[in-house]
Amino acid sequence: MHLLHDRGFQHPTPSDITPRALYEDRRRWLQFAAAGAALAAGLPAAQAQAQAAGPGKLAKLPGARSAVAGAATMEKLTSYDDVTSYNNFYEFGTDKADPARNATKFKTTPWAVAVEGEVRKPKVYDLAELLKLAPMEERVYRLRCVEGWSMVIPWVGYSLAELIRRVEPTGNAKFVEFVTLADPKQMPYVGSRVLSWPYVEGLRMDEAMHPLTLLTFGLYGEVLPNQNGAPVRLTVPWKYGFKSAKSLVKIRFVEQQPVSSWTKAAQQEYGFYSNVNPKVDHPRWSQATERRIGEGLFAKKRPTLMFNGYEAQVGQLYAGMDLAKHY
Ligand code: MTE
Repeated sequence: MHLLHDRGFQHPTPSDITPRALYEDRRRWLQFAAAGAALAAGLPAAQAQAQAAGPGKLAKLPGARSAVAGAATMEKLTSYDDVTSYNNFYEFGTDKADPARNATKFKTTPWAVAVEGEVRKPKVYDLAELLKLAPMEERVYRLRCVEGWSMVIPWVGYSLAELIRRVEPTGNAKFVEFVTLADPKQMPYVGSRVLSWPYVEGLRMDEAMHPLTLLTFGLYGEVLPNQNGAPVRLTVPWKYGFKSAKSLVKIRFVEQQPVSSWTKAAQQEYGFYSNVNPKVDHPRWSQATERRIGEGLFAKKRPTLMFNGYEAQVGQLYAGMDLAKHY
């Protein structure tokens, strides 16, 4: 992330390049079709919007409308093209287009996630088991990257809390560490000095238990494309995107605060909490505004919202904390 900013370059996205009229026509048609289908099926609008734009190339993974507060923003979705071609997944390269290009042969079956550490019921979960552990929900979340851009993505998954409850954490479990796959045979940048591998992230226990924290298996009503963290990732919508670790292989309950890969790389720049906060600037750039991907390179930037707009849901988790100190 810091490397990209050092170059001071933001890559254009497909919808930045597609002639605007053409793009809007296609979108309008999709939205029209979605509205019709939604009325016919009695579906909520956000869900219909998502279903209309899905490309139908991957296995279907529908999610029911979520009852979790804050889980269904009605903002315009970022196009499937942009969500799946403008990515950060450093194991596959540092350019935004690298993950889609270099992860085409990424093998995600068989797949297992080891859940271990301070729990009474540690277990290695096979992906099939994880997929049926709880009902799938659609969650339309804003994603705000620390680099100053954002998207609106219809994810599919269930609250991480569903899994946490089943493994019964002990009283010593204060934090959760997320470890992702680091396979140099499949991932060309693993072993490079860009970051330390495997990619590690962490949450405080109450953050991990919050209903908005999503164990994510799909987007746009289909299983996750490889470049978005197949077959299972985390999505924490009120934190900068790098907290949402992709392609998870281990979830570990620990007593000490984990040290994430980004904190190791540049402690002054990427703190443990990394809550979206327009008032706490990154040492090298402001966090007050953001560029919404798909709105074009010259569109006016949007104001960034405290906790990425999820303050009503998560603000109390940080009551009394100095968020400039605990950035
Ligand atoms: N997870 C892994 N394993 N490796 C990464 O490089 N990048 C993070 C996060 N999860 C990353 C990762 C960053 S910086 C962001 S912004 C989001 O993934 C991007 O998710 P997306 O490509 O699905 O939009």
